[in-house]
Amino acid sequence: MGPVPDLSERATACADRLRQADSVLLASHIDADGLTSAAIASTGLERADITHDVVFKKQLDADEIASIAAREFDTVLFTDFGSGQLDIIAEHERAGDFQPVIADHHQPADRETEFHLNPLLEGINGASELSGAGASYLLARALEDGTDNRDLAALAVVGAVGDMQAVGGELVGANRDIVEEGIAAGALKEGTDLAFYGKQTRPLPKLLEYASEVRIPGISNDEAGTVSFLEGLDVELRADGEWRRWVDLTDDEQQTVASALVQHALKRGVPANKVDQLVGTTYTLVDEPEGTELRDASEFSTLLNATARYERADVGLGVCLGDRTGALDRARKLLQNHRRNLSDGLQQVKSKGVERAEHVQYFDAGDEIRETIVGIVAGMALGVEGVDPDRPILAFAEKNDEETKVSSRGTARLVGQGLDLSVVMREASQSVGGDGGGHDVAAGATVPAGAEEEFIEAADDIVAEQLE
Ligand code: C5P
Ligand code: C5P
Ligand code: ZN
Repeated sequence: MGPVPDLSERATACADRLRQADSVLLASHIDADGLTSAAIASTGLERADITHDVVFKKQLDADEIASIAAREFDTVLFTDFGSGQLDIIAEHERAGDFQPVIADHHQPADRETEFHLNPLLEGINGASELSGAGASYLLARALEDGTDNRDLAALAVVGAVGDMQAVGGELVGANRDIVEEGIAAGALKEGTDLAFYGKQTRPLPKLLEYASEVRIPGISNDEAGTVSFLEGLDVELRADGEWRRWVDLTDDEQQTVASALVQHALKRGVPANKVDQLVGTTYTLVDEPEGTELRDASEFSTLLNATARYERADVGLGVCLGDRTGALDRARKLLQNHRRNLSDGLQQVKSKGVERAEHVQYFDAGDEIRETIVGIVAGMALGVEGVDPDRPILAFAEKNDEETKVSSRGTARLVGQGLDLSVVMREASQSVGGDGGGHDVAAGATVPAGAEEEFIEAADDIVAEQLE
């Protein structure tokens, strides 16, 4: 039956079709979810003795799909994209170029194909209940042939967390069923812990000081304040002259720091609902060594984003597939660079500010933020001062001389009121000669350079209608 019964028929059909293929090309997206999708699908295929090649694409469009068709594989498995481009893919299918099999979670274009595994087709939310990696996991489970692929649930969780699917810090819906399979298979552990990024790898003061999830006066961005806060606690802060990390603390010590942090935040006037966000659900990959990025789903996903979004998908895939020497070292170097870029990008938004249309706000990063990470920066920008946290944000970045990339991010509250950015991005971009799509809460597009103003107006109008 599989862990998500509503999707089991589709998963089985896709798996059966792949078993009949003469040659399979696996094509996937260049982010954490796309990489984990590819690793899961590739492992599932390999364990089922289905040989295949793997390629990664920044974005699927008519040209990229044509280049895939030119490789003359009889079957193409698309993971973490494909649904949004079904109109183009279906043309190739009709022409006999290749048989598509799709495991995706993006808003489908207005077209159908026979082997299509997507939560949205069965009323499951593709932005919060199942990721591309989750869809690929269901496929891998359906490909089992006396094997047990439940170990791959760990990577599916990394993909979902990387796509920001954890609602209030916790995976829900079909994602939740996958978490349970991973726990049962002994690949995953779930716990309640401090909700900060970097518990495995950051020195204690940096963990608290850099945390952007909740702003705490006297701690956030305050090195001296953080150190003096920590020194006031009855906890050994250093070992062999080095700062300890969160994972190095005993349970009792962690409890001491967490309680003191909550007290400190309340005393400094952080609202109770924000203080609640200091603690959340964490997903631990139990087979990975403690104190490494790979042990924590959130750190793992950031490590992966640091590879494929910088044209090194090979490195990220290597890490997912278990390469713990060359690929991991390489990924760590890329991570330093990625972190710096995110922090520079956010700094740029803070200093330049955002502009406002009637219903959306926007900023143009020009060539100062890579188009592959401008969406991450836009999401982070919704939390900074001077940016309305409750208004959809659009972010432009130069793609090349002819094209501009646009990323958009919203909030759960706005989605509740009717916002669907996948529709906004698709329709507004198409109205100016571009194309786009994605999810209700996060979507993207490519538009012709010079059409930005017209695009903003079109997007503003659509948002107005949706929020009416
Ligand atoms: O292409 P893909 O679906 O994998 O990417 C999803 C994107 O949407 C990620 O960049 C993720 O950060 C963003 N997202 C978000 N907030 C959500 C859900 C997704 O920013 N609630
Ligand atoms: O690139 P960005 O992070 O802004 O993408 C947000 C979401 O929109 C992702 O799920 C991505 O796959 C999707 N997207 C799309 N078509 C585009 C650009 C982005 O479907 N042209
Ligand atoms: Zn995805």
